[in-house]
Amino acid sequence: MVDFQHQSVMPKQVVDLLVTKPEGLYVDATLGGGGDAEHLLSAYPALRLVGIDQDPYALSYASRRLQPYAARFTPLRGNFRNLEDLLLTIGVRAVDGVVFDLGVSSPQLDQRDRGFSYQHPDAPLDMRMDPDNPVTAFRLVNQKSEEEIRDAIQRWGEERWAARIASFIVRARTEEPIRTTGQLVEIIRAAIPAAKRRSGGHPARRTFQALRIWVNDELTALSEGLLAAWHVLNPGGRLVVISFHSLEDRIVKHQFREWSNQGMARVVTKHPLTPDDREQEENPRARSAKLRVVEKRLT
Ligand SMILES: C[S@@+](CC[C@H](N)C(=O)[O-])C[C@H]1O[C@@H](n2cnc3c(N)ncnc32)[C@H](O)[C@@H]1O
Repeated sequence: MVDFQHQSVMPKQVVDLLVTKPEGLYVDATLGGGGDAEHLLSAYPALRLVGIDQDPYALSYASRRLQPYAARFTPLRGNFRNLEDLLLTIGVRAVDGVVFDLGVSSPQLDQRDRGFSYQHPDAPLDMRMDPDNPVTAFRLVNQKSEEEIRDAIQRWGEERWAARIASFIVRARTEEPIRTTGQLVEIIRAAIPAAKRRSGGHPARRTFQALRIWVNDELTALSEGLLAAWHVLNPGGRLVVISFHSLEDRIVKHQFREWSNQGMARVVTKHPLTPDDREQEENPRARSAKLRVVEKRLT
């Protein structure tokens, strides 16, 4: 069993802003280590919760952690883009709130063989949150065209050296397949001119973000997940979303604004909430977090 050390981001705000009905039924669409789930279940003794994750390791860890609440907690494995169908498998058609805490968990980043991190040099190029996903980073890096790789790194990594990185990848793979995170980091390093490498954090950060988004189809899943959550949300219920980069936050902001413009919702957070200085210091992963909340109108 993998040890799952994940520190939830803005946990108090999630509980305070999500729950409008203490005895209601809620969904944690990104169960992860079960931190937010535990806060919710312990804060409200009559609240019931469904926890979804596409990662079976997270699901089994969280289920064990939430054993004391087993009578009020149901774990479901799957992608939150299929939230409506997943809930139907347990006979649920409507809920009082859904929380999304996006991205990967700290244990996913730390498990060397998952290949999410440029910090582990000899990990396989994998990056799948769902181990049954047929698409791996290895497959994309070694099989996609130079144009597709360039576009992905540009769009999802917002990397200005995307064209050079794509061309270096394609050249390197003609010699031998690119198998490890370390090989890819070296190719990226070589592609970015030395003088520019010193600014903007680790040179591989943006390319790794792009590949992770691509492998897991994260942005489409987010758009679909928000719509699915909206469909099952009871009037007066809320969606709480924590995002970690601007591409995610833009999708959330636009969707909330659209519902609000159509008169179907009230945006509770006019500006996104961010973690205070202490939380940012204690939990580096929290630094880029933005929390937004929307409430479905009663009529
Ligand atoms: C940041 S962690 C959540 C941490 C959790 N809130 C906690 O307090 O422990 C995000 C989790 O969401 C899962 N996840 C991300 N995208 C998903 C998707 N589209 N469908 C299902 N699970 C997803 C990941 O596998 C990961 O376990």
